Amino acid sequence: MTPIGTNRPTRVVIIGTGAVGSTTAYTLFLRERVSELVLIDANHEKALGEALDMNHGLPFTGGVKLWAGDYSDCKDADIIVIAAGSNQRPGETRIDLLKRNTAIFDDIIQNIVKYNNHGIILVASNPVDILSYVSYKKSGFPVNRVIGSGTLLDSARFRYLIGQSKQINPRSIHAHIIGEHGDSELPLWSIANVAGIGLEFTDEEREDIFNRTKNAAYEIINAKGSTSYAIALALDRIIVSILQNQGSVLNVSTLLQDYCGVSDVYLGVPCIVDRTGVRKVLDLKLDDGELKQFHESANKLKEIIAELV
Ligand code: 2OP
Repeated sequence: MTPIGTNRPTRVVIIGTGAVGSTTAYTLFLRERVSELVLIDANHEKALGEALDMNHGLPFTGGVKLWAGDYSDCKDADIIVIAAGSNQRPGETRIDLLKRNTAIFDDIIQNIVKYNNHGIILVASNPVDILSYVSYKKSGFPVNRVIGSGTLLDSARFRYLIGQSKQINPRSIHAHIIGEHGDSELPLWSIANVAGIGLEFTDEEREDIFNRTKNAAYEIINAKGSTSYAIALALDRIIVSILQNQGSVLNVSTLLQDYCGVSDVYLGVPCIVDRTGVRKVLDLKLDDGELKQFHESANKLKEIIAELV
């Protein structure tokens, strides 16, 4: 991390230049979030092409230095985003990707730790909670410095849909999806609010909004093959909170220990994110129904993790 008061450039490395990695790079590039942006891909040509394409836009943007690199560029990285691996084909769940992506992660983490032991690993590949846990275990990094994108995107989708239904800008909607970034996630209707005022919904409205939130990725993948824009903005949000030491509360995936009765699993929950990574996991007061669903989500992932080791 750049010590405050020094001019050392900030560097983000993005591993994997598929739809998510390259859109994230483009988002950071356009918004000038970092001084240096490095793209790494097993297919180096692809990373070169993306870098060249973005760099040709430099006369119209600012001064981000961007290049296609290799793992040695992780050395000076403040944040290493992992967006590599397969993504879902139509009809596949995120968990279906596990075997394919765990093998890739072995290699990626080994390469990162060869060059970097001080940065933050931000995992976006799916299944994100399990791959974050795998990254934490394999990297040996302290837990605050291995973060998954978690349910930040799901919460954004939820806020968007609530905003549509209430005709209120989604930025003014405070609402959270927690648990797995996937089929067992759950909505916290009990704390959804606008200006601290609870929101009224019929059962049908709740069901419709939550189903559309949970199934959003399936809908987009069926329509265009992959998701990219909103996840890129979610990653940008996490990266900015880290680099600017904001302390924003974001539903990222982190290791839970003795949290609402859940331990030793990565899940999306509200966390304070700053220059240290996940500085604190916020305590939620879940109602009985939410607690039951949260335990189901945790148990589902823990069973899958148990089969991995
Ligand atoms: C998403 O939710 C596929 O996990 C990705 O957009």
